[in-house]
Parts: sequence; C-alpha cells; structure tokens
Amino acid sequence: MDHLLALHTWTDAPGTPLVLLHGFPLDHRMWADAARRLPEDIAVHALDLPGLGSSPTLPEVTLEAAADAVVATLAAAGVDRAVVAGLSMGGYAALALAERHPDLVAGLALVDTKSTADGGAAREKRIVTADEVERTGTVDAVLGMPGTILGERSRVEQPALVPTLEAWITEQAPEGVAWSQRAMAARPDRTGVLEGYQGTSVVVVGSLDTVTPVSDAEHMADALRSGPPVVLDGVGHMSAVEAPAEVAAVLADLMRRT
Ligand code: MLT
Repeated sequence: MDHLLALHTWTDAPGTPLVLLHGFPLDHRMWADAARRLPEDIAVHALDLPGLGSSPTLPEVTLEAAADAVVATLAAAGVDRAVVAGLSMGGYAALALAERHPDLVAGLALVDTKSTADGGAAREKRIVTADEVERTGTVDAVLGMPGTILGERSRVEQPALVPTLEAWITEQAPEGVAWSQRAMAARPDRTGVLEGYQGTSVVVVGSLDTVTPVSDAEHMADALRSGPPVVLDGVGHMSAVEAPAEVAAVLADLMRRT
C-alpha cells in the first residue's frame, strides 16, 4: 500500500518541478522564504516528511520508507521527474531517493547535509532523544535546537528567527519527532550514491554550520565531482531560513542547468 505525505504547492508551472524536503524537527514552512524568492516560472512543491507537519508517520521507520512515500506522493500529483533539494534530514531523504528512484531525480541540491552515517555516539543520542520524546509525550527534548541549528551570526542579527523556529518545533507531533530520530539513526553511508549519480547537482553549506560543517559538504562535492560546494558566508545550518535569497539563487541556477 502506498503511503502518502502532505504536499504543499507554492507555484504551479509547466516543466520539471522543484521539490523541497525540509530539515528536522521542522516541516515545509522552513522553505517558505526561499520558495517565494524563486522565479515564478518554476513549479515548486514541498513535502512534509513522515510524522512532521501534516504528514503521518509510516509503519516502517526508515528514510528508505520516507523516500518511497515521497515518490508515491509525487506520483499521485502527476510528478515523475523533479529536481530535489533537501536540507539536512531532507538531504538524507533526498539521497535515499537518488539511490532507490534514480529516474525521478533530474537534479539534486544537497543543502547543509551530509552523505555519511552517524557514528555510534550520535546514533545512541538520537535513540535517547526518541525515547524521551515518547516517554514525556512532548517535544521538550528538541526545543533547544534553534540554539545550535541557527548560525551564531543569524541569532544575533535576525533574532526573530529563534522564536519562529521554536514555534515550528513546538507544533510538531512527539511521535513524528521520535520517528524521525529513529529513521535518521538507521541511515547508512550514501557517499557511493553520489559517486554514481548522473544528474545535475549542487552542494550548499553555511560557513558557520556546526551540525554538518563545510568538510561534510566538501566530501559530498568530491563524490559528485561537482566542483567545490557553495559556501554561504556567516550562515549556519538553516541556510534556507537564514539566507533565503542566496539559497533561492543557487536553486534557480540549478533549475536552469537541469
Ligand atoms: C536537521 O537539521 O535536519 C538535523 O540537524 C539533522 C540531523 O539531526 O542530523
């Protein structure tokens, strides 16, 4: 049985669409500022990944299942080929998509993300967080994340971003937060997917990203043979939120090249 996710269409236009996959523990709204800066002739859709935003969790707790649900959701909307941009967890899902459904992925933007798997300690931390979220029935365990995912400069120069992200996190369902942590903990290293990838691509990272730093972006760009990553100066892990105009320009360029 196909599991469908929530699909949000910002712009409907002919041609290959851009599909945006969000980071954790957020939903499609984190792409809104970048999406509205894209040229109007680009069709732009964003999905809520399983358990987050308006999407249900899936019985299978993996990013592979998330990727299959993305494909089923797009197919139901008549989309069988797209440029896929994933930020952080959205990038992990995009890599699973590129591996399992290469015909769908005409272009790939990997934003503030990485292709490697978690180390043992990081994996263990995710399970502890998932357990706590389930035990308390709240998202309190991840409410402090804006302090690490937003870059230091953005927190000072754009202070309104902190309460905005806190509000988005507060609105997430605890079971979806736990689902996401367990799915991310289970993901394998997908650097090899990039080595075999044939479509157009771009790698983007904030210079102040401490979650998936520039070295992770360089590792992916090396595997893709796509030239150096686009490094956004003074930006942290949430570049689409912190620097939406710059991210939109990079995505528009990828759309033109695809
Ligand atoms: C995200 O922004 O999606 C998360 O920081 C990803 C992660 O926890 O690895």
